[in-house]
Amino acid sequence: MKTLDTVLQEHRTFPPSQTFTEKARIDAAGLSALHAQAERDPVAFWAEQARELLLWRTPFTQTLDESRAPFVTWFADGELNLTESCLDRHLATHRRNKAALIWEGEPTERGVESRVLTYFELHREVCRAANALRTLGVKTGDRVVIYMPMIPELVIAVLACARLGATHSVIFGGFSAEAIRDRVQDAGATCVLTADGGYRRGKVIPLKQNVDEALHSCPGVKHVVVVSRVGCDVSMHAGRDHFWADLLRGQSAHCPAVAVPAEHPLFILYTSGTTGKPKGVVHSTGGYGTQVAYTTRHVFDLRDEDTYFCTADVGWITGHSYIAYGPLLHGATVLIYEGAPDTPHRGRLWEICERWGATILYTAPTAIRSFMRWGDEWPKRHDLSSLRLLGTVGEPINPAAWLWYHETIGQGRCPIVDTWWQTETGAIMVSPLPGATATKPGSCTQPLPGLSVEVIHKDGTRCQPGQGGFLVISRPWPSQLRTVWGDPERYRKTYFGDMFIDGKPVYFTGDGARLDEDGYLWVVGRVDDVLNVAGHRIGTAEVESALVSHPAVAEAAVVGRPDELKGQALVAFVTLRAGSAQRSDAPLSASEAAAEILRKHVVKEIGAIARPDEIRFTEALPKTRSGKIMRRLLREIACSGRARGDVTTLEDIAVLERLSAQHSDEE
Ligand code: WTA
Repeated sequence: MKTLDTVLQEHRTFPPSQTFTEKARIDAAGLSALHAQAERDPVAFWAEQARELLLWRTPFTQTLDESRAPFVTWFADGELNLTESCLDRHLATHRRNKAALIWEGEPTERGVESRVLTYFELHREVCRAANALRTLGVKTGDRVVIYMPMIPELVIAVLACARLGATHSVIFGGFSAEAIRDRVQDAGATCVLTADGGYRRGKVIPLKQNVDEALHSCPGVKHVVVVSRVGCDVSMHAGRDHFWADLLRGQSAHCPAVAVPAEHPLFILYTSGTTGKPKGVVHSTGGYGTQVAYTTRHVFDLRDEDTYFCTADVGWITGHSYIAYGPLLHGATVLIYEGAPDTPHRGRLWEICERWGATILYTAPTAIRSFMRWGDEWPKRHDLSSLRLLGTVGEPINPAAWLWYHETIGQGRCPIVDTWWQTETGAIMVSPLPGATATKPGSCTQPLPGLSVEVIHKDGTRCQPGQGGFLVISRPWPSQLRTVWGDPERYRKTYFGDMFIDGKPVYFTGDGARLDEDGYLWVVGRVDDVLNVAGHRIGTAEVESALVSHPAVAEAAVVGRPDELKGQALVAFVTLRAGSAQRSDAPLSASEAAAEILRKHVVKEIGAIARPDEIRFTEALPKTRSGKIMRRLLREIACSGRARGDVTTLEDIAVLERLSAQHSDEE
């Protein structure tokens, strides 16, 4: 854990400004009181939150049941439909005709394209979509896959599924046909909601075509619904495919919400793990809704006057929790943007902030580093005085990016909430509260009241301030994943099989971290074989299995190396099959063609997000005597060109030497 111990420390602190604190929901004293209340009785604390924040059709009498841990339940005998909390309850208030969604499209050739849906309109569209899905036979318990661009229909589709009690599984639009196929099959989906295409950096992504390709081997899918977004030609399979507009025409604007038990799976979201097969992370309805509502309210200090702008895609957990559900649970106005931040110019986000008067901006460190590199002139062209709060998520933020965000975007005025959480945690776990916590650039500060996040040594003892260790969650929390879809044993083994406190299994996050002398948490990043490339989670094993699925590849090992912009870059070490066109003893320049073929292959198998930055051919991979690839050595080679440390378990030391030598030759 040496590397974890020696992370650069940033000593400056930024206390919340008086002007912010005066109006904030919670100040420092309020936060202490909330901590005290939660620690006295965490279970009662969450029960109170659940009752206060959500509408229940049948009130719960049970709170946490740990008797089958790590399979836990929260509020299990309660019943609800989350869309009633997101939509219906606002209709009887002043929010009825308040903007729920403000959407801006990417193309600007014919002027800025935007749509605003009030709560009344969003409710109506969700009901019509739900009724339409019902005519296709979609019902409670079915799985519906959603593969759409960032358009209002994506949010409508998610909520329409929830309205019926159908479990949604959103697939990010950057995934390939192959990735869709795997997820549709694993989830056992019967219906796919998509669009003809989506815009990205001025290009059209052929979404429907990808779905068609995927569905060749998905006989379980009976219906496909297609939103016309780009107007490109699509082939429609008679009987299976329907246009969204046709299907919704004439549907009633009323659709009774189906009350489901609190533990009913609201959604499955696939995420990368340490094996080649993505995990279907299953989230509940009541527990998930409770913690998402709680965190949205406190972390973003959300209020009615806010225009909340989250740049995440609904295809990721951030978009689920902090676009589709969290802000709507509070009747907030959510601003969403369809496209890339540099289309048609590098000031696009700032233009959007100015146009709609965004007050809260939630984005990722990798994006912030790009903005920094593009230069201050872009944000300087726009009036950003409406912003009052900034947030980050997805990876550790380096202090330089934090300071730039604070000064150039926040103009020194806006607190920054650095929020640590995961697909599996469902909602934010560790974060400052903007009116209460003094922040330190690069630290996500402290666990929120009610949550128990700790740093421990491998032997389960707690780390002392300054020591590096493993980040664990030592008590169940309401929005925790309930299982891995179809594979409960994988859930138990992956998350509760590694770390123990006093002999009791605790949830292991996969992250390394350290606490400083003030009890502030500094997350260093993943310590398992999961990489964080430009804020996207990528399992090295997944990329490896994509590479070896190419007939010319014998073996592959993928590691990360630090990258200034993306956080981490993907480096693949590949051995080719004997007799394949590309021989590894050929000079690297001659391998570029082969490398490009393999890159394209990975894009086809997984999607553009997993495209290796570097492919290096080698005769063999360094392995232990038991045949395990020594990734640590490969990482060192990828980072520095030299492998240090213990190599006595190497099967073939010459392999390592060759790899090291090859690296220095290239330099
Ligand atoms: C990393 C995204 C440091 C971490 C919501 C975690 C962070 C992984 C932060 C989860 C943060 C997320 N500081 N690291 N504020 N937020 N991470 O599932 O390594 O896409 O395990 O969820 O991102 O990524 P995921």
